[in-house]
Amino acid sequence: MPRITPLIHVIAAGAAAWAVSAAVHADGAVSRGALLAAMCDTCHGPGGSGSKSIPALNDLDADEIVETMKAFQEGEEDATIMDRHAKGYSEEELKAMAAHYAKSAK
Ligand code: HEC
Repeated sequence: MPRITPLIHVIAAGAAAWAVSAAVHADGAVSRGALLAAMCDTCHGPGGSGSKSIPALNDLDADEIVETMKAFQEGEEDATIMDRHAKGYSEEELKAMAAHYAKSAK
C-alpha cells in the first residue's frame, strides 16, 4: 500500500484547492460566505439547492436567511437541528452566508 499513499495526497490536495478556488473568485464577503456555506451544503445540497426533506436555501432572499437563522438562535423558529447549528455563527457570518446563497440563486 505505500505506493498508493502519495496519490491519495495529490487527490486530497487537489480537492482542497478546488474548494478554495470556488470561493476565491468573488469579492470579500461573498468569498467568506462560500467558505462558511460549504458546511451547510452537506445537508442543504450543492449550492443550497435542497436535498430530500431538507429545504433549499438558494430560493430565499438574503434577508430571509439571516432572519430565519436569528430566529433559530433565539429559539423562535421550530427546529430539529438548525437551532444548534445557528448558534455557532455571528451576525456578520450569517450575512456572508446569506449573500452567497442569494447570489447562487440567480
Ligand atoms: C445537519 C444537517 C444541516 C446542516 C449542516 C445545516 N442545516 Fe439548515 N436545515 C436543516 C434542517 C433539517 C432544516 C429544517 C429545520 C429543522 O428541522 O431544524 C433546516 C432549515 C434551514 C433553514 C430554514 C429554511 C426554510 O425554508 O425554512 C435555513 C435558513 C437554514 N437551514 C440555513 C442553514 C445554514 C446557513 C447552514 C450552515 C451554517 C445550515 N442550514 C446547515 C439541516 C441542516
